[in-house]
Amino acid sequence: MLDIKITKTETPLEKPEKGAALGFGKIFTDHMFIMEYNRTEGWHDARIVPFGRLSMHPAATVFHYGSEIFEGLKAYRRPDGGVQMFRPLENIRRMNNSAERIRLPQIDEDLGLKILETFVKVEEDWVPSEPGTSLYLRPFLFGNDESLGVHSINNAMFVLIASPVGSYYAEGINPVKIMIEADDVRAVRGGTGYAKCGGNYAASNRAGENAEKLGFSQVLWLDGVERKYIEEVGAMNVMFRFGDEIATPMLTGSILPGITRKSCIELLRSEGWTVNERLISIDELEEALKNGTLTEAWGCGTAAVVSPIGQLFYKGEGFTVGNGGIGEVTQKLYDTLTSIQWGKAEDPFGWTYKI
Ligand code: PLP
Ligand code: COI
Repeated sequence: MLDIKITKTETPLEKPEKGAALGFGKIFTDHMFIMEYNRTEGWHDARIVPFGRLSMHPAATVFHYGSEIFEGLKAYRRPDGGVQMFRPLENIRRMNNSAERIRLPQIDEDLGLKILETFVKVEEDWVPSEPGTSLYLRPFLFGNDESLGVHSINNAMFVLIASPVGSYYAEGINPVKIMIEADDVRAVRGGTGYAKCGGNYAASNRAGENAEKLGFSQVLWLDGVERKYIEEVGAMNVMFRFGDEIATPMLTGSILPGITRKSCIELLRSEGWTVNERLISIDELEEALKNGTLTEAWGCGTAAVVSPIGQLFYKGEGFTVGNGGIGEVTQKLYDTLTSIQWGKAEDPFGWTYKI
């Protein structure tokens, strides 16, 4: 396996003060991991170096044809002072699936784990300890051929950076307002929706900006063919409670297979809930909002964890979900999941990875 060369910074940065509002992805740690790929050598030159700018050729593929994928996972400070990651192998596997889709080179799973673990060890002091905070890890991989032809990738670069974070939404765990987007679509079946590639987020920008202007936190996407079935939110998967059933959109190829989604499904089923991965139409949702059978809705994702949805807007009409507050299943799910992630509770599923 590749050796990782470590060059530590001689000018470490000040860490954020205890209790400072970290926000999301605004502060970066002292180092970054980089490795390069070409077709003859494969992945090589793996190194951890002081955090800094990347110097790139203006013709690099990623600037022109969007060949970029990324991941998002977190390292958490346990009550005993140690540090752990949450299901890191799932992120490596999803990154390889994304790479397969847009034809970027994949990374051996053991090497992926070694990179994450070595990097988190180097940046261990950056893992914050205040409630709700963590060190967000952002691996990304992009095509780096220095020519303008549209062709398969011969050169690529993998980079890992990290950012101490608090809550993703300014609202914290408080209910967010979401706008159901009736015009733009994010992804289509057969496209790249299931891959975590930058282009999906670029396609989301226009609707996201509109929603933000109107005072919404994010957009809830409908399917790209009929604009009829619920897909996911901008940076989270979505779940609904209809009476005794928990339902979440099935993975049709245009939705990101979230690791938090998977964990929520496994957790809820272990507690005896009926969880169905199925098609959920906007008509069904509207009906359930009107007649009160939709009692809870929440988004789930690494950055946002479990985020209650208090209000949904569709074509100019606003609906309150349940009583507009945090539903009981949402709160319990948040508590159970975060207790496992932060090492405050037993992990019967074997999801945590101690550093
Ligand atoms: N859907 C989208 C579009 C996302 O960006 C994310 C965030 O990563 C998710 C869903 C949730 O995925 P995960 O739980 O793996 O973070
Ligand atoms: C994550 O939850 O890790 C995400 O990637 C969301 C992000 C696009 C900010």
